[in-house]
Amino acid sequence: MHMETQATPDLLKGRARDIEDAARVLTGGGLVAFPTETVYGLGADARNDKAVARVFEAKGRPQFNPLIVHVLDLTAAGVLGMFSDTALTLARKFWPGALTLVVSRTPDCAASRLVSAGLDSIALRVPAHPLARALLEAAGCPVAAPSANRSGQISPTTPEHVRASLAGRVDYLLEGGACGIGLESTIVSCLGPQLQILRPGGIAREDIETVAGPVELRSDAGAAPVAPGQSQSHYAPRARLRLNARDVQPGEALLAFGSQVPECEGICLNLSRDGDPVEAAANLFAHLHELDNCGAEIIAVMTVPEEGLGAAINDRLKRAAAPRS
Ligand code: TXA
Ligand code: MG
Repeated sequence: MHMETQATPDLLKGRARDIEDAARVLTGGGLVAFPTETVYGLGADARNDKAVARVFEAKGRPQFNPLIVHVLDLTAAGVLGMFSDTALTLARKFWPGALTLVVSRTPDCAASRLVSAGLDSIALRVPAHPLARALLEAAGCPVAAPSANRSGQISPTTPEHVRASLAGRVDYLLEGGACGIGLESTIVSCLGPQLQILRPGGIAREDIETVAGPVELRSDAGAAPVAPGQSQSHYAPRARLRLNARDVQPGEALLAFGSQVPECEGICLNLSRDGDPVEAAANLFAHLHELDNCGAEIIAVMTVPEEGLGAAINDRLKRAAAPRS
């Protein structure tokens, strides 16, 4: 699977202009669908909260699950995530390629918190596809990209699939024919003492075990999390959340939404003064983290309407408010 050694100049021939245009859309905060060796990705500048929020909007995802961030090489990956020796071994062996590594975010990680769905970890991948690489190089930023399909539909492996699924929801489609692998990347978590496959994919477990020793296949690999607020794959603030708040009690912090905000003596952060769900999604995890760190025991949360990304925002707020032991 050493695609970098394959000669692929044809795919880039005459495409300099397209790549430049796509890169400009990305750095301008737009969405670009682009080919990778696994499936087409729906890309956004991973540092841009608003652009990342628009990815969720375009996909129509009812929930915020964390996204894979694509970078050009291990050096760029090392700026965003912290690599253990085993993670380094895997990266050196399989990158560029169909392997995604989940590692801890670096303290000054520039990726949006929405990319990690509020978690302290980040999923990183170095793609091998020449067009994906050319795009990353031209844009000069990490690119968050889930598969370029509407939520609940199958992953796209041709530009036609992308068009059929996301027509009118993407700012630019960088065409690159059919994807070679046609199956998503294998996701390996390097967070615990034992490597875990979170999602089987383009790189076989056996190949990973050859270089890294035994790997656990998480029993729910690929499945949805079990109970709201319980799964460790979900961000849970230390403070308690009081939902649908219409007022603020003494000592509480406030997570506000919209222009009509109740009086608050403590810290108040507004998800979106204009009541814009995309802006609210962009701010959600950053605001929660900030309020959680300000020392309040309880965060009062105003009601967010269920429209558009509001559903995903409410799903996450409900999980964060669920009782935990
Ligand atoms: O082949 C691929 O991986 C494609 C191409 C575009 O690179 N991308 C892709 O992304 O399949 P997506 O968003 O459909 O899948 C991302 C998966 C999700 O299941 C998510 O739960 C997991 O990656 N993931 C991302 N960040 C994570 C994290 N910090 N911890 C645990 N799982 C994470
Ligand atoms: Mg997908």
